[in-house]
Amino acid sequence: MLVRLMYASRAVPALDQEELAAILRQSRANNPAQGITGVLCFSEGIFLQLLEGGRGAVNRLYNRIATDPRHSQVELLAYQEIGERRFAGWAMGQVDMARLNPALLLKYSPKPALDPYALSGKVSMAMFEELVATASIMCERG
Ligand SMILES: Cc1cc2nc3c(=O)[nH]c(=O)nc-3n(C[C@H](O)[C@H](O)[C@H](O)COP(=O)(O)O)c2cc1C
Repeated sequence: MLVRLMYASRAVPALDQEELAAILRQSRANNPAQGITGVLCFSEGIFLQLLEGGRGAVNRLYNRIATDPRHSQVELLAYQEIGERRFAGWAMGQVDMARLNPALLLKYSPKPALDPYALSGKVSMAMFEELVATASIMCERG
C-alpha cells in the first residue's frame, strides 16, 4: 500500500542555506532505508514537500517532521493512496527555485511566488508534476 502526502510549512526566520542543506542531507540519508521518495521545495521561507512510500513509513515520517523545530505551521495539503510513485527517482529531490521559470509559478498561483497556503492541494500537486516534467528537480550528492 503506497501513499502520497504533501504539506506546506513556514521555516523559522533564521533558517539559512546551510540548514536547508542539512535537512536535505538528513532526508537523503534516512529515506532510502524507509522506502521513501519525494521532493522538497523551499522559497522565501516556505517549504512545500511531497512524500511517497508505504503508508506506515510516510505517516511516521510526517509525524516526526511535523514536530521539527526548524519550521512551524505545518499544514497537510494532500494525502492519497496511490498505485504507483511519480517521484520514484529521488530519495529527496530539491527544486532550485532560483532557476525556476516564474511563468511556471504564475501558471498555478495568483503571484509568481511559492505560496502553497494560497493554493488547493490539487493545484500544488499539478505544479509538482510539471516540475518533474520540466526536469526542474535536482538531487545533489549529500
Ligand atoms: C522541511 C523539513 C523536511 C524534512 N524532510 C525529511 C525527510 O524527508 N526525511 C527525514 O528523514 N527527515 C526529514 N526532516 C527531518 C526530520 O524532521 C527529523 O529531524 C529527522 O528525520 C530525524 O532524523 P535523525 O533521527 O536521523 O536525526 C525534515 C525536516 C524539515 C524541517
